[in-house]
Amino acid sequence: MERRTIGAAALEVGAVGLGCMPMSWAYSGSRQRGDESLRTVHAALDRGATLLDTADMYGPFTNELLVGRVLKERRSEAFVSTKVGLLVGEQHIVANGRPGYVKRACDASLRRLQTDVIDLYQLHRADPEVPVEETWGAMAELVSAGKVRALGLCAVGARSGRRSGARLHDGTIRQLERVQQVFPVSAVEAELSVWSPEALEGLLPWCEARGVGFLGAMPLGNGFLTGTLTPGEGFEPDDVRARHPRFTAEMMAANQPIVVGLRRIAARHSAGGADVTPAQVALAWVLSRGRHVVPVPGTKRECWAAENAGAAGLRLTAEDLAEVAGLPSAQGSWD
Ligand SMILES: NC(=O)c1ccc[n+]([C@@H]2O[C@H](COP(=O)([O-])OP(=O)(O)OC[C@H]3O[C@@H](n4cnc5c(N)ncnc54)[C@H](OP(=O)(O)O)[C@@H]3O)[C@@H](O)[C@H]2O)c1
Repeated sequence: MERRTIGAAALEVGAVGLGCMPMSWAYSGSRQRGDESLRTVHAALDRGATLLDTADMYGPFTNELLVGRVLKERRSEAFVSTKVGLLVGEQHIVANGRPGYVKRACDASLRRLQTDVIDLYQLHRADPEVPVEETWGAMAELVSAGKVRALGLCAVGARSGRRSGARLHDGTIRQLERVQQVFPVSAVEAELSVWSPEALEGLLPWCEARGVGFLGAMPLGNGFLTGTLTPGEGFEPDDVRARHPRFTAEMMAANQPIVVGLRRIAARHSAGGADVTPAQVALAWVLSRGRHVVPVPGTKRECWAAENAGAAGLRLTAEDLAEVAGLPSAQGSWD
C-alpha cells in the first residue's frame, strides 16, 4: 500500500488506516463481534493499513483492549493512535483535561494496548474547565518521557456550539493555534467525506501549510456512502445513526443521488475488470484531497477492512473528481 507521512516528526503510515471505533462503540452490534473484530484488525495490517485509530472512551476501554491483543503480536507493523480527554459516565460524556488525569490515562492506555509507546496521542476534546495549553503541556511531557511519539488534536464536534457566521472548524483552528505555541501538532482528526467536505474550507489548508497530517474521520459517511444502507431501515437505539439527522428515512432518501453518483464512478472503474465499490470511490476521493490526508474508515468486518484498504490503489480521474464536485450537497445537519 502507498505510504504517507504525518506531521513534522515524519511518521509513516499506510495511506488508508483503520477506524476501530465500530468494534466497540457507536454502532449497534458492536459488542457481539469480538473475534471478527480481531480478524478485522489483522486483515487491515495484512494489507498495509497500519494506522489503527482507537480511543480510551470507545467501549469504554474495551476497544483499546482489543487493539492491544493484536499489538501484542504485531507491534512493529502497526501505528497506534489513541485519544484522551473524554470520560464516559452513566448518563453522559464529560471532558477531563487536567494534567494529572491525562498522565494517568496515558499509563492506563499503554497497559491496555500492551505497548510501551503510543505513536499518536490525541486530545479527544478540550476541557472547558482547563486551559488547553495546560492539557497539551502534560501531553508534551509524555513525549519527553518516551511514552508517546507525537501529539494530535481532534476537531471540536459538529454538534458543539458554532459562533454565528463562523465556519465549522474555526473553533478547532483557534485551539490549534494555541497548542502549537506549547508543542507541535503532528495530526488533526476531523470528519471528511464526500457528503461532509467542510474541513476543505479552512482546516485542511491550515494543516497542509504547517506540515500537519490530517486523519479523515467518518470518510464513509457513517456507512451511508457505501450504498449498503436502505432508506428507512432503522437503527438500534445504541447506534449513533438512530439520532443522526441524515439517517431519518426522509433524509436517506433525499441523499440517494450522492450514492448514485459514487456507484456510477465505481461502475466506470469496474468496466475494465476490477471490482470497484462506492465505498472505495468515497475513500479515494478523501485520499485525493492531499498527500497529508489519511482516511480512517471504521469497520468491524474483515471483508470491509480488506475492501477499504483496496481503495489506496484506486486513482480517481479528473472526470471522476468533477463528477463528485457536481453531486448535490447533503441534506440534514446538526445545526
Ligand atoms: N476523533 C473523533 O472525534 C472521531 C469521531 C468519529 C470517528 N472517529 C474515527 O473515525 C473512524 C471512522 O468513523 P466511523 O467509523 O464512525 O464512520 P465511517 O468510517 O464513515 O463508517 C463506518 C460505518 O461504515 C460501515 N462500513 C465500513 N466499511 C464498509 C464497506 N466497505 N461497505 C459497507 N459498509 C462499510 C461500518 O459497518 P460495520 O460497523 O458493520 O463494520 C460502519 O457502520 C472511527 O472508527 C474512529 O476511529 C473519530
